[in-house]
Amino acid sequence: MDLRVGRHAVLGEMEGGKLVTIYVDGVPLKAREGEPIAAALYAHGIRTTRYSPRLGEPRGPFCMIGRCTECAMTVDGEPNVRTCMTAVRDGMRVDTPGRPGE
Ligand code: FES
Repeated sequence: MDLRVGRHAVLGEMEGGKLVTIYVDGVPLKAREGEPIAAALYAHGIRTTRYSPRLGEPRGPFCMIGRCTECAMTVDGEPNVRTCMTAVRDGMRVDTPGRPGE
């Protein structure tokens, strides 16, 4: 079953981007250029995009249209990037904030 997002409610059609490599917490993953980072993570079975600051509980994308901020991650060193609204680029580094033990 293909878990990729074909059409995003805000960003439009997502089909056809070339395969590139992104690094998620240092692990290389294949993603389609132009698709939302959160969609690329979802396609690889990654549901946790951050951990809550107080209790350290895993959180994941909820709205996928840039409203809830549950998908906020650190992208290329910039914190609090909404990954549901940020397109994949080759070589980008995506880190999960608040990982237990950090
Ligand atoms: S999932 Fe809600 S802002 Fe990204």
